[in-house]
Amino acid sequence: MTDLIEAPARRHTKPDPIGAGFLYHCAPKFADLYRALVECGGRIDMIEYLATHFGSDVEYVAEVNRSLGDPPSTLHCYEYMIGCVDRPDERTIRKLRRMAELANCQYIGEHVGMMGTGERYSGTFLQPFGTDEQTERFIDNLRDLEGVPGCPLTIENQSQVYNQIGPRSICEQVRDIALGADVGILLSLSNFIIAERFVSMDRERELAAIPLDHVWQVHLPLGRAEELNDPGLGLDWRREEQRWANSTLEQLFREPSFRPVSVIFEIEDAGTPSHARPEELRDALDWARELLGAGTEVAVAS
Ligand SMILES: [Fe+2]
Repeated sequence: MTDLIEAPARRHTKPDPIGAGFLYHCAPKFADLYRALVECGGRIDMIEYLATHFGSDVEYVAEVNRSLGDPPSTLHCYEYMIGCVDRPDERTIRKLRRMAELANCQYIGEHVGMMGTGERYSGTFLQPFGTDEQTERFIDNLRDLEGVPGCPLTIENQSQVYNQIGPRSICEQVRDIALGADVGILLSLSNFIIAERFVSMDRERELAAIPLDHVWQVHLPLGRAEELNDPGLGLDWRREEQRWANSTLEQLFREPSFRPVSVIFEIEDAGTPSHARPEELRDALDWARELLGAGTEVAVAS
């Protein structure tokens, strides 16, 4: 394995802390959830959107963001195809730039995954090879993209994991890309859990690989507690995973170098048949804000 980060160190510029929020799927259920959250005294500092939801109507993101009080946002994205030799076309780039502008987007999270080629979308996030060649491709693409999206790009450890391919594990590759391209990391604890459907990750080894000072954002799931606790549903394993995610986040915050900008909860596909209740989301957001505030000045929206 060659030293891919031998290039002169560049300045890693993490934005000021923003706060807590959730991944907003563009569906009526989420509009209802947001309304109920506010009604029960909850609030968000930031929101996350899936870029693909606005692919056919970019301008709509402005309307949705207005309905949430115009918070800062982040886009969850794969359209920059950062692992691919094919590059996104001009039209896609223009669309994503416009989306970022309209959504008050602070930074974009791109998956360290393979989505297919410029011609064909694979329909899933394939695990990239952990080889030098593949890792260099990510670094070069990210460097070439600097300034293109209109806001910084960050990279996310992906969920679809098979056996290690090449010298790097998933997070070792994330580390080498983040340091080589000098970009922030979206550390998805949710994706560690989803990976169990494929091949279990050695979570300690993976977490140890992450340069904590590069973590800008954390994803973690938020399921409905009463369903996680319902013996009839048999979700004990999932309840344990939720506990793992929560306690891992608390542990990470004990590390002085771990100062993310935001914590985002994933409500959809969080392991329970129903979404978390608005009160649960309110409390989770408060908990995350408290953690974020432990060593940082958190600028929260009034
Ligand atoms: Fe993701």
